[in-house]
Amino acid sequence: MTAMTDGFGRRIEYLRVSVTDKCNLRCVYCMPLEGLDWLRRDEILTYEEIAGVVSVMAPLGLRKVRFTGGEPLVRRDLAELVRMTAAVDGIEDISLSTNAVLLEAQADELREAGVNRVNISLDSLQPERVDAIARRPDSFQKIMAGLDAAERVGFDPIKINVVLIRGQNDDEIHELARITRERPWHVRFIELMPTGSNLDLSRDAYLSCTEALERVREVDALEPVGGPTGNGPAAYYRFPGAAGSIGVITPMSHNFCDRCNRMRLTADGHLRPCLFGDIQTNLREPLRAGEDLRPLIEETLRIKPERHDLVQGSASGSGGLVALSQTGG
Ligand code: 5AD
Ligand code: SF4
Repeated sequence: MTAMTDGFGRRIEYLRVSVTDKCNLRCVYCMPLEGLDWLRRDEILTYEEIAGVVSVMAPLGLRKVRFTGGEPLVRRDLAELVRMTAAVDGIEDISLSTNAVLLEAQADELREAGVNRVNISLDSLQPERVDAIARRPDSFQKIMAGLDAAERVGFDPIKINVVLIRGQNDDEIHELARITRERPWHVRFIELMPTGSNLDLSRDAYLSCTEALERVREVDALEPVGGPTGNGPAAYYRFPGAAGSIGVITPMSHNFCDRCNRMRLTADGHLRPCLFGDIQTNLREPLRAGEDLRPLIEETLRIKPERHDLVQGSASGSGGLVALSQTGG
C-alpha cells in the first residue's frame, strides 16, 4: 500500500468532496448575489462517479471524506452517497460541512448512512444578522432547528464556523465564545479570505484571529487544547471547565499549509491539490472514458503546492476563484 505523500512530505488522507456548486444561501463573503453560472447536470459527477474516485484513492491512503458544496444538502438524496462512500474499504470517517438550513429534515438519515460529524456555518447569534449575512430570509430559525437536530442524532463533534466580518459580527465574539461554556460545541473563528467576488469586503471587513482571541480573553483565561477530532488547520483553546472549545482558523495571518492533509474534488470532477491557485486535474473525462485514475491522482499529489499565495485585498492568489462555493471551501 502506498501512502499518499506529497512532494513536501505531507500525508494526504483527507478528501473534501463538493457535491454541488449550488447553495440555498448567498453569504456575503462567499457567493455573489447573482451572476454565477451553475454547472450543467451532465458536468456534475454522479454519486457512482464520486464513489469511484474515492475507491481509487482509498488504497492509496485516503481515510476521511467530507462532503461540502455549495450546500451539500441541496443535492438530492445525499444519504445515498454517504452510504456508498461508507462502503468503500479503508474509509474511516465521513463528515459534512453544511449551512444546516436543510439539516433538520435530513439529520437522522445522514447519521444512519454514516456521517459522524458536522461543521455548521453560523456567523451570528442574532436572527436578523444571520439573515442579512446569508442574504436569505428566515435562515436563522432553520439553522437553529438544524443545530438541534445535529445534537439530537448525535453528530460528534459539532463544529460551528464563524467567519469574522468587522462591523457585522465582531461585537458578538464574546457571546459566541461564551456558548462553549454551556454547550459542547467547538466554535471556530475563521479569517475572511479574498476571492474574486468579495474583494471589497475582504479588504474592508477583515479581522484577524489574533484580534478575535484577544477579545475572547476579555471573557476569561484560555488554555490551549488539542481540539476535537478532525486534524484540521484550526488551533483550539478552552475556557476553564468549558464543555466546548474555541478554535481559530488563520489562512491570512498564520499560514498553516505545512500541515495540510487534504485534497479537493470539485462538483465537476476536478481534483484540486489546493483550495486556491489554478492547479487542478480533470478526472471526469478519464473517469467517463474508463481510464485508470491512479496515475492522474498520483501526479496531482506530486504537484501539490507548498502553500497558498493569498494576498490581502487581491484576487491574485485565489487563482481565478470567484466564490468558495465553487470548490467547497
Ligand atoms: N473566507 C473565509 N471563509 C469562508 N467560507 C466561505 N467563504 C469564505 C471566505 N471567503 C466558509 C464558510 C463555511 C466554510 C466551508 O467556508 O463560512 O463555514
Ligand atoms: Fe452557501 Fe456556505 Fe457559501 Fe454561505 S458560505 S453561500 S452557506 S456555500
